[in-house]
Amino acid sequence: MNRAGIQVHRYEAARDNTGAVPVKGGKSLMDHRLEAGATLRAAMIVTIDGPAGSGKSTAARKVAARLEIAYLDTGAMYRAIAHAAESRGTDFEDGDALAAIARSIKLELDCGPTFTRVRVDGHDISEAIRTMSVSAKTPFVAREPAIRALLVARQRVMGRELGSCITDGRDQGSVVFPDADVKFVLEASLQTRAHRRHREMIADGEDVSVEEVLENLQTRDNVDAKQWEPLLASGQAVVIDTSKMAIGEVIAHMVSVISTVVDGRSA
Ligand code: C5P
Repeated sequence: MNRAGIQVHRYEAARDNTGAVPVKGGKSLMDHRLEAGATLRAAMIVTIDGPAGSGKSTAARKVAARLEIAYLDTGAMYRAIAHAAESRGTDFEDGDALAAIARSIKLELDCGPTFTRVRVDGHDISEAIRTMSVSAKTPFVAREPAIRALLVARQRVMGRELGSCITDGRDQGSVVFPDADVKFVLEASLQTRAHRRHREMIADGEDVSVEEVLENLQTRDNVDAKQWEPLLASGQAVVIDTSKMAIGEVIAHMVSVISTVVDGRSA
């Protein structure tokens, strides 16, 4: 546990004591490197930024599973604080009160390749942080500079502790991990994002209409700072518009970009 009470559980399975991440099984980093018995020798950080509903978390989980490395879901951290504030009946306009909650809670994340479990003060809130109500309130937490500073610092520590990881959020390539090996920005039209998010929420048992989801995304778009924009201006990120792409195509494209970078590194 570190000082702010954020505990990170490593995804251990893919590491050996040389610090290498073995590429094994049928779900390798890249098949030709797999055949050569290659390993990803140094830690690699891949960032994915973009607006809500652009497919970041699905892509991050699937690519993490392919590479057998951890998935760091930074939105879950902001959501956990919003959930804690909601449970305490906090005024979301009161930034100081939100920051005080962020500093006082014990936030624990289990970062697997395909799952993220989130606990606050020992209670598992992994599902509870996904409701529309928490989604709508989280931007008020995220716009508070003291909370951002706290979480940015924690995410850097987590990145170091996890070694190789794929991280998604709004500021991962621009602020948190400016030296990341590969940076992606995922985009999609508002309509596409709303329909996707609606399908996910219905599957999770939430009773919500497409219109409500669209309105929620639009509000979040307006409140959330587009912190990935510097990446676009400087051409640092690989931008993927996922509006008309199947998830399989998105993953294939991302893995091929990462593959090129790994090949370049080991050449
Ligand atoms: O990615 P997700 O939709 O779970 O993020 C929830 C909210 O957390 C976003 O709407 C945004 O307000 C905030 N967030 C952020 N910076 C991040 C990740 C999430 O501001 N790195």
